[in-house]
Amino acid sequence: MTSPFVVLVSAIGQAVVTGHTQPSVENLKQIINDHRPKLDHYESVYKNLHSRPELGCMESETAGVAAEHLKNLGFEVHEGIGGHGLAGVFKNGSGRTILLRADMDALAILEETGLSYASRARMIDDQGVDQPVSHACGHDTHVTCLMAAATLLHSAKSSWKGTLICLFQPDEEHGAGAQAMVDDGLYKKIPKPDIVLGQHVTPVRSGVVATRSGPCMSAADSFNVTIFGRGGHGSQPQNTVDPVLIASHVIIRLQSIVSREVKPGEIAVITCGSIHGGGTGNVIPDQVDLKLNIRTYTPEVRSQVLASMKRIIESECEASGAERKPVITATDSFPLTDNDQGLTDTLTSAFQSYFGADNVWDMGRATASEDVSILATSIGVPYSYWNFGGTDEDKWEDAVRKGKVTSLIPGNHSSLFAPVIEPTLRTGIDAISLAALTFLT
Ligand SMILES: *[C@@H]1O[C@H](CO)[C@@H](O)[C@H](O)[C@H]1NC(C)=O
Ligand SMILES: *[C@@H]1O[C@H](CO)[C@@H](O)[C@H](O)[C@H]1NC(C)=O
Ligand SMILES: *[C@@H]1O[C@H](CO)[C@@H](O)[C@H](O)[C@H]1NC(C)=O
Ligand SMILES: [Zn+2]
Ligand SMILES: [Zn+2]
Repeated sequence: MTSPFVVLVSAIGQAVVTGHTQPSVENLKQIINDHRPKLDHYESVYKNLHSRPELGCMESETAGVAAEHLKNLGFEVHEGIGGHGLAGVFKNGSGRTILLRADMDALAILEETGLSYASRARMIDDQGVDQPVSHACGHDTHVTCLMAAATLLHSAKSSWKGTLICLFQPDEEHGAGAQAMVDDGLYKKIPKPDIVLGQHVTPVRSGVVATRSGPCMSAADSFNVTIFGRGGHGSQPQNTVDPVLIASHVIIRLQSIVSREVKPGEIAVITCGSIHGGGTGNVIPDQVDLKLNIRTYTPEVRSQVLASMKRIIESECEASGAERKPVITATDSFPLTDNDQGLTDTLTSAFQSYFGADNVWDMGRATASEDVSILATSIGVPYSYWNFGGTDEDKWEDAVRKGKVTSLIPGNHSSLFAPVIEPTLRTGIDAISLAALTFLT
């Protein structure tokens, strides 16, 4: 245990010895408190975004709201990058260039939260299907927090120097938006950042920020698989090759990759999220379509799992006498999120001083995935990504007491996902502003 006296002496000692190189979090706290905009305004911005969600690649209204906000502040705004992506640049003397990223897209999920500002929106998706749409992943909180942070940092401009970039990214859910922005010449339009920072709301107690150095979110690969059999009458299986039975063997056997082939202790997840074949009970169909999703943490395990997947699918088809090879098509893919060690350690200690050690948790190694890293790895600069809590404190404590966090707290992508507005927004605004100021002062 450290006594306050020792802390005081060492703080003074450090100030004398090292001069003014590291900003003190107390100073940054003062800057944030002096310049944080009125939260009730951002509460209405949030409710408005929440009730008007837009699917990936269709975020035109959301992008419009963010662009207008940045223009009004005097940022130089570049719109329509990689679809509806946009970036606002604010130059304030020489110094580091820091990029803050928020994703904008929503999901094809019917919101069932019962909130007064719940979404009732519908959109025609990229397959031409009319879908309910909601912000079940909380990207509306990210957009709101970054808009408020832009206002805060703009207002505090006499306290920092360098270049601030606020980037609003489309199409995160398909893992395509960051790459689309880079491919569309993002870094020919705006300065290359020295550091990329981003954050995500998550189903833990509101007021908490969670960080982790090194790998913190998995790589993800998705596949369409078509298994070909020979259809026929359900009463005469001897004249057919039944693709439903082959698919069943495939689905069960794929799980043995994780339990029997991957080394215990390594992380791998294989999910078959969709199986479709046939339409009636007495007809054996010609083919079955599967959709697979795979999460891994290292390139070695990734190659191993993908090779085993291919081997098992092909071999099961052959074992059943299928006359045509299955077709395996990669659909979307996300890279591993591997937070820079030095950068993340600096942020974690700034968050600990600011929010209190009790409110800074370890992110752990999530099997969720993100494409934020592409904004950094495409130009070889470090990045750090953290989570902030969105669950009402009483609900959280109650679920923890009952030992039922996973069943009582709706997670991202649940139709019941409903972040409590405060202190969630304030935590997200303060966290991303503090992170930027840590490297701009
Ligand atoms: C940043 O902008 C503010 C306000 O315009 C100004 O006071 C400050 O000197 C600027 N900093 C630098 C380094 O240009
Ligand atoms: C995967 O299958 C879906 C239909 O189930 C189709 O819309 C999509 O285009 C396919 N993707 C690829 C890359 O083949
Ligand atoms: C929600 O998203 C965050 C960040 O992507 C992730 O860490 C977390 O695991 C997700 N939660 C669920 C339930 O998917
Ligand atoms: Zn999501
Ligand atoms: Zn998300």
